[in-house]
Amino acid sequence: MSAWKKHQIFEKNSLILIIGIVIMISIGGLVEIVPLYYLKSTIEKTEGMRPYTPLELVGRNIYVREGCYACHSQQIRPMRDELQRYGNYSLAAESMYDRPFQWGSKRTGPDLARVGGKYSDEWQRDHLVDPRSVSPTSVMPGYPFLMDAKLSTIEIENHLKVNALYGVPYTEEQIASAKVDLMAQAQPDSDAAEGFEERYPGALIRDFDGNAKEVTEMDALVAYLQMLGTLVDFSLYDEKANLR
Ligand code: HEC
Repeated sequence: MSAWKKHQIFEKNSLILIIGIVIMISIGGLVEIVPLYYLKSTIEKTEGMRPYTPLELVGRNIYVREGCYACHSQQIRPMRDELQRYGNYSLAAESMYDRPFQWGSKRTGPDLARVGGKYSDEWQRDHLVDPRSVSPTSVMPGYPFLMDAKLSTIEIENHLKVNALYGVPYTEEQIASAKVDLMAQAQPDSDAAEGFEERYPGALIRDFDGNAKEVTEMDALVAYLQMLGTLVDFSLYDEKANLR
C-alpha cells in the first residue's frame, strides 16, 4: 500500500481523523509551550525601564478610569507603516509595570505608546480640554473637568503597595514618600522636588497643567502621557540589532 493509499484511512474515517488532528496539535502545543516553563522570564531585561512615579501612576489610573483605551492602543506592531508613523515597535518590557496592560484593541485615535514628548504640555492640556481647538475634525471627547479636579493623595501609598505586591520593584522608601512625591513632581520649586529626583532619576519635574497653585488630575494625566514611550532610549541600540 502506498503512503498515499494509507492516508485514505484518515480521510474515510472521521474518528481516526480527529484522533490524528489531536495528536498533531498536541505536538505543536508542546513544542511551543514547554520551553516557556524553563525560562525564568519571557521579558528581556531592558535598560531604562523604571516603575512609574506616583504622579504617572495616578495619571495612568485616570487614563483607565476615563476609558481612553476604548479609542487608543498602546502597542506599536512591527509593520512598516506603523514603524514609520509611530517609531520603534513596542517591546514587552515597556508594559511590564502596567497592571492591567493598555495594549488596547481599538484605534479610533492614534496609538499612544510613544506619544511622550511629541507635543508640549500646553498642547496636551488644550487638546484634553477641547480636542477641536487643536485638531478641528477630531471626534475625541473633551475632559475639561480634569483642570479643576484636585489630586487626592489619600490612596497613593496603597496604589504603590499593591503594585509592589505584584512584583513592581518599588522600594520601601518610594512607598513611604509616595504622598510627597506625588505632589513634588508637579511642583518643581518645592523643597520635596530634590528628594523626588533622587528616588526617580530622569523623571520629568514640571508644572504640567500650567496652574502652579494646585496639583490637579490634569497634571497627572499629562505627566503620564509625556512619559509614554520615553523610558527606553532606542538610539542606544544599533539599527542593525534587529530592532527596526
Ligand atoms: C471617542 C474616541 C476617543 C476617546 C475616548 C479618547 N480619544 Fe484621544 N483621540 C481620538 C482621536 C480620533 C484622535 C485624533 C484626533 C485628535 O488629535 O484629536 C485622538 C488623539 C489623541 C492624542 C494625540 C495623539 C497624537 O499622536 O496625535 C492624545 C494624546 C489623546 N488622544 C489622548 C487621549 C486621552 C488621554 C484620552 C482619555 C482621557 C482619550 N484620548 C480619549 C479619539 C479618542
